[in-house]
Amino acid sequence: EGEGWGRMLEPEELLERLQAFLTPKDLKGLKLLVSAGPTREYLDPVRYLSNPSSGRMGYAVAEAARDRGAEVVLVSGPTALPAPWGVEVVRVESALEMREAILGRYSWAQAVVMAAAVADYRPAEVSREKEPKVAAEKVLRLLPNPDILKELGENKGPRVLVGFAMETGEGLARAKEKLLRKNLDLIVLNWVNREGVGFGSLENEVVLLLRDGRVLELPRMKKRQVADRILDLVKEFWKG
Ligand code: CTP
Repeated sequence: EGEGWGRMLEPEELLERLQAFLTPKDLKGLKLLVSAGPTREYLDPVRYLSNPSSGRMGYAVAEAARDRGAEVVLVSGPTALPAPWGVEVVRVESALEMREAILGRYSWAQAVVMAAAVADYRPAEVSREKEPKVAAEKVLRLLPNPDILKELGENKGPRVLVGFAMETGEGLARAKEKLLRKNLDLIVLNWVNREGVGFGSLENEVVLLLRDGRVLELPRMKKRQVADRILDLVKEFWKG
């Protein structure tokens, strides 16, 4: 850790910094809150419910926005990704922790991109000690987690709000319904059942649904490029 004289940058990071330096700062002045990664809902100290989100899409948005001059706070669930430089990273585990971290920075934010795969449920009982296994069948009682994005939408003000949706076949209508119900400006629709895109991969193939009815089907591209397309629209809504 540390900056300044004496620390040698890895060639890869040097290239990244050069790319950032050369990027036009068209988001200068924007205060952007991004969430990424899965959440973990613990049953006991060593067991949890979660999902396979890698965090890549949200991290790509945070990095692209940083390169374009935005001030970025990244609220991240557990991922294997390194903390991006030039971004304030807030690490959380559960959906309730993520909610606290996000609501705590909401008054600061001018735009929010909710790329996190927030678990919809958490165990009703959490044991402080490791639960020994028993031979008998076990029933798990779950409580619904709060919908963070919906809460943000209810108190939107002048902010730009972006959500994600994961759908299979008939997803377009469901995603549009989500956009309206959560009071968003933009929803990014991911197809769950397509090869080589989505969870864990480097590429994505998404449909962008806008509040004004526009539907933009993007071809398959790197997550970083998807991030830049999302940010082009955030900029449009932000500048009004
Ligand atoms: N989201 C959230 N809080 C939750 C669940 C989801 O903020 N408790 C956000 C996600 O970050 C994402 C969007 O809401 O931006 C996804 O909406 P959701 O209703 O969970 O849609 P799906 O994940 O597609 O699932 P489902 O259709 O089963 O509701």
